[in-house]
Amino acid sequence: MLKIGILGVGHLGKFHLNNWKEISGVEVVGFFDPNDENAKLVEATYQIPRYLNAEELIELCDAVDIVAPTNFHHQLCVAAIKRGKHVFVEKPLADTMEEARDLVKLVKESNVKLQVGHVERFNPAFLALQNHKLNPLFMEVHRLAQFNPRGTEVSVILDLMIHDIDIILSIVKSEVKNISASGVAVMTETPDIANVRIEFNNGCVANLTSSRISMKKMRKMRLFQKDAYIGIDFLNKKTEIIKQKTEDDTDEAFTFDLETPNGGKKTVAVANPQIPEVNAIKMELERFRDAIVNNTPTPVDEVAGFRAMDIAHQILAKIKQNSLLA
Ligand SMILES: NC(=O)c1ccc[n+]([C@@H]2O[C@H](COP(=O)([O-])OP(=O)(O)OC[C@H]3O[C@@H](n4cnc5c(N)ncnc54)[C@H](O)[C@@H]3O)[C@@H](O)[C@H]2O)c1
Repeated sequence: MLKIGILGVGHLGKFHLNNWKEISGVEVVGFFDPNDENAKLVEATYQIPRYLNAEELIELCDAVDIVAPTNFHHQLCVAAIKRGKHVFVEKPLADTMEEARDLVKLVKESNVKLQVGHVERFNPAFLALQNHKLNPLFMEVHRLAQFNPRGTEVSVILDLMIHDIDIILSIVKSEVKNISASGVAVMTETPDIANVRIEFNNGCVANLTSSRISMKKMRKMRLFQKDAYIGIDFLNKKTEIIKQKTEDDTDEAFTFDLETPNGGKKTVAVANPQIPEVNAIKMELERFRDAIVNNTPTPVDEVAGFRAMDIAHQILAKIKQNSLLA
């Protein structure tokens, strides 16, 4: 049995707890959370012991799950890594780039596995594309949410857009060439809405809009590549592929013909790939367990967490630069 300690049992921490309880081969040995109200609720609901000292709990564990506010990620990760304990840490990896860099170095020097909670990698709508070649030249991305004070201690870039940044970096195998960005702080002291253009060396351009002050929710990514349009709806868990039909295509929902300029015709196939029935949080935690048990890399390691943060911070610097010009 892998012994797990949970550090932070607020909103998301309770979801993690529920999932850990359903995952085989692990035992949650306790939790640490300085908030008495949350702690009492968790003790009563889950019958899991509360520790008043994080280090004491960490000593007892093989791995920790850090679901505390981002400004505590670094210190909790360090406390675990220095004791040789594996770490699952929620996104973003850390509060500052200096902290993130330090964590990458510490993990490299140790024998521990670290996974960052970029849970959209396990969204069924994205998993449905696992066997499809993604090679976009242009991406249009919207992540819109209604206002909620939770999470607003960081900008919309580090709160919401970082999910899309991570997904994009996992798809586009090329270095970032240029970033343009603008954002506006409407309800908080940091940008609540932003539009960003990321250009890659291979010519791909990603245009991202994130907002946490919208009337309606939306989490969509549209990929345009040479042979296909691919739509991913992370919110409604739907995926669509529209492409010119080939003989190999058999799984389309329907087809239609388009006339070409030279009087010929092309058959277009519209397919909705099978969406796997998975719980994304449970799956990311299971994959963390598997990486420890099998001594394999975690699916979203510290370098991936660092890269997403690096781009997010470059975006924030551009927004700041633009707002100074305004
Ligand atoms: N992957 C996602 O989609 C996603 C979604 C929401 C939140 N998050 C991340 O999860 C983390 C927690 O977010 P939340 O929404 O659950 O916040 P929350 O405020 O609801 O919960 C945080 C909990 O951590 C506790 N805490 C404070 N200091 C602590 C410390 N030093 N050690 C341990 N616990 C401490 C608080 O008392 C609280 O109970 C944040 O890093 C956030 O960015 C990720």
